[in-house]
Amino acid sequence: MVVVPARRLNNDVSIPQLGFGVFQVPPERTQQVVEEALAAGYRHIDTAAAYGNEAGVGAAIAACALPREEVFVTTKLRNGEHGDAAQAFEVSRRALGVDVIDLYLIHWPVPSAGLFVQAWRAMEKIYAAGGARAIGVSNFMADHLDTLLAETTVVPAVNQVELHPTFQQPAVCARSRAHGIAVEAYSPLGRGADLTSATVVELARKRGATPAQIVLAWHLGVGNIAIPKSTHAERMRENLAAAGISLSAEELDAVRSMDSAARIGPDPATAAFTQM
Ligand SMILES: NC(=O)c1ccc[n+]([C@@H]2O[C@H](COP(=O)([O-])OP(=O)(O)OC[C@H]3O[C@@H](n4cnc5c(N)ncnc54)[C@H](OP(=O)(O)O)[C@@H]3O)[C@@H](O)[C@H]2O)c1
Repeated sequence: MVVVPARRLNNDVSIPQLGFGVFQVPPERTQQVVEEALAAGYRHIDTAAAYGNEAGVGAAIAACALPREEVFVTTKLRNGEHGDAAQAFEVSRRALGVDVIDLYLIHWPVPSAGLFVQAWRAMEKIYAAGGARAIGVSNFMADHLDTLLAETTVVPAVNQVELHPTFQQPAVCARSRAHGIAVEAYSPLGRGADLTSATVVELARKRGATPAQIVLAWHLGVGNIAIPKSTHAERMRENLAAAGISLSAEELDAVRSMDSAARIGPDPATAAFTQM
């Protein structure tokens, strides 16, 4: 079985650098899909209250024979609950059926609501009480990070942002890393769209790998944590095997040159995320 490298977060907690995301996995299928992912070898699952499938993730963790400490679980605070993070955390913890959540994130900053600093202060308390082993943010742009760091105490362990070859967010990555915040790539395959690029297809051909493996090996090679999603067991295994591929400096540069600053998802600065 392929060995997935671990990263040390800024509080020394260890996180598998390649994980498994469950956005848009239907709640009724989630237990089975996550059981398949765990059987394939994933030890890091990324969910969110807003995905509606935390219970399925929890059921899979309970059903697998793995010790709890061997599965790293991330979930996220819903946008409408920035003012009540403590209660939202308890709801997520119950849905997941775990005592401790490994990583708890603010899902989106929602700057128009002006509540993310308040949410973070509640999360600092959750962290201090041992409810979460690490706390972090998601979709935080440089100015959101600056506000948070100026007004609160605990530096986020992670910033989970949209990041794939055609959307690399160099400014956000640099600002995060400058503060010791690990960069976690969501939609790491560009939701599949980056897999047909000529650069990726050619690298895959030369390496005898698949396009998804090249993209994920690139993430690992440049230091990103990545959480691809698939509902197909074969693709789960294919994606995990990327951990066994080490790209050369030239290959990493070839993928780096694909950045076209083309975002797929919503812009954290402007969108109002009442639905999340
Ligand atoms: N924090 C946030 O705001 C946020 C936002 C979006 C996503 N996320 C997290 O990031 C995770 C991944 O992002 P994502 O689901 O948006 O996009 P993604 O992982 O980049 O791409 C998923 C898509 O690629 C397909 N795919 C997966 N492996 C493949 C392979 N080897 N070959 C060809 N196609 C493949 C999947 O199809 P099949 O399922 O049919 O295989 C699915 O359509 C989510 O599940 C979630 O946990 C977080």
